[in-house]
Amino acid sequence: MQIASKILSLHALNFCYFMTVFFNKTELRQYLDQLKSKTKSLGFVPTMGALHQGHASLIEKGLEQNEYVVVSIFVNPTQFDNQEDLVKYPRTLDTDVELLTSISEDNIVVYAPTVDDIYGDHVVSTAFSYDGLEHEMEGRFRDGHFDGVGTIVKRLFEIVQPHNAYFGEKDFQQLMIIKKLAEKYDIPVNVIGCKIHRASDGLAMSSRNTRLKPEFRKAAPFIYKTLKAAKEKFGTKSANKITEWVTRQFENHDLLELEYFIIADVKTLKTVKRKSNKKKYRAFIAVYADDIRLIDNIALN
Ligand code: PAF
Repeated sequence: MQIASKILSLHALNFCYFMTVFFNKTELRQYLDQLKSKTKSLGFVPTMGALHQGHASLIEKGLEQNEYVVVSIFVNPTQFDNQEDLVKYPRTLDTDVELLTSISEDNIVVYAPTVDDIYGDHVVSTAFSYDGLEHEMEGRFRDGHFDGVGTIVKRLFEIVQPHNAYFGEKDFQQLMIIKKLAEKYDIPVNVIGCKIHRASDGLAMSSRNTRLKPEFRKAAPFIYKTLKAAKEKFGTKSANKITEWVTRQFENHDLLELEYFIIADVKTLKTVKRKSNKKKYRAFIAVYADDIRLIDNIALN
């Protein structure tokens, strides 16, 4: 069995690069234990691969704040409620390593475990309570999703034992849930949220974007455009009125299908009924572009 290996890839320009990739947690742990003596601070960026500039920005932030950053690449089966989505999820380890090498050859450690290394024979998730955060938005539409996320992230925190872990605000609900997980289980890690990275046309970066057919990719920036318009209306209009307006925009759209648009309190993630000046709100959206589900959000005040 392959445990740890130097992945050698041929760059498009025939340029060779090396980077240590661990496929096994025991070997990774041994390596990280050796690093401990020379490392004051270890960063961690968990990913499901198909890395893009959004991931790169999390890793760069990690490298600014820590001597080493572990990047995990693992398409976690227990967080998918849709088997087809799991099967079709892009797996691009070779190009991922290429991107990571371009960021830093020496200070990134890659952990790309097998399903067996994480789950053994029991590919199941543990049930978690995140004080109600799990019942909102994504929790309503993706059965068992946050149990799967909690299971893998807790497992990875235990294996990697990072000081700081970085998550994108695109998955804002996931970020809040992971903060809650660390707090509830007393996991000694700072969970750090990072701003959404967008393409020049405004579409939030996501590994799923690579699966969009050209006409859907062209249409997708409409999501962020609508979020920005909703933010402008937030000063003068009620949350209900804005939600109705957004719903109409998508009813009139030929290619994009709205799953939900919600204005929620950032702390509880509960849909706002009446706005209060003392609270912070965000608008959250999930949209289908063909069979690809895209999510995004925006701070409103
Ligand atoms: O956001 C993701 O890519 C995944 O949910 C995560 C945090 C890596 C867990 O599998």
